Amino acid sequence: MTLPRHLAVIMDGNGRWASRRRRPRMIGHRAGARAVNLCIDHCLERGIGALTLFAFSSENWGRPEDEVGALMKLFMGAMEREVEELDRRGVRVRFIGDRSRFSPALQARMASTEARTAQHRRLSLNIAVSYGGRQDIAAAARSLAEDVAAGRLQPEQIDETLLGSRIALADQPPPDLFIRTGGDLRISNFLLWQLAYTELWFTDTLWPDLDASILDQALDAFAARERRFGLTGAQVTPDPAQADTDTHIA
Ligand code: IPE
Ligand code: IPE
Ligand code: MG
Repeated sequence: MTLPRHLAVIMDGNGRWASRRRRPRMIGHRAGARAVNLCIDHCLERGIGALTLFAFSSENWGRPEDEVGALMKLFMGAMEREVEELDRRGVRVRFIGDRSRFSPALQARMASTEARTAQHRRLSLNIAVSYGGRQDIAAAARSLAEDVAAGRLQPEQIDETLLGSRIALADQPPPDLFIRTGGDLRISNFLLWQLAYTELWFTDTLWPDLDASILDQALDAFAARERRFGLTGAQVTPDPAQADTDTHIA
């Protein structure tokens, strides 16, 4: 069975999960933390090499102050709690997004989590926090513009490969499979550049209700897809019977 090398996930539906139980939204975010561990376990068990989780978008800063504050506390606590286990299991943790907006304590904790796990290769866990796909592309464009202004680069040298090399996660294969829980059929400013040819899969399941069978459903659906990258079906999956016919015609 073909497995994705890189899985990207929008973990959505925490607030609705809590509302259905008549509990504050924050209870849903806490329940969502359990699903994060389940998803990491699944990737480790299946041998998926890279997992990118959307934890907090650049637009999520606009939520009510108490929710944002509680989420920051939750991130801090989760890093403190999980870093040892992630380190032990060979997981390299990285954060993508604009970290300048976080408190110094949170920024320091992110840096120390990355440093402690930097040598691992079994699973690359990328956590998108204060992340926006447009912001990612704009930052890459700015870095190219700086090189042009400094005379290190000619505008004619700018192409997809060069811009792509300045985008988040440039050192990893692009996501093969994207999963969004929570039932909404949109990208919500996640990895816009990186998702160009990613297979998309959506489920109504709310993030805190995630279980291994849902992930297996997504992986099975992925294995059954034909990825054509703009080519024809015959080009990507040559049919032996058809090849025979072609020879006869020739
Ligand atoms: C996703 O769940 C988590 C974050 C955006 C931090 P939501 O909080 O968006 O949950 P819903 O979509 O309101 O149910
Ligand atoms: C996307 O979910 C961001 C995360 C899961 C972190 P949102 O709940 O913020 O997305 P919209 O607002 O429904 O598009
Ligand atoms: Mg949501």
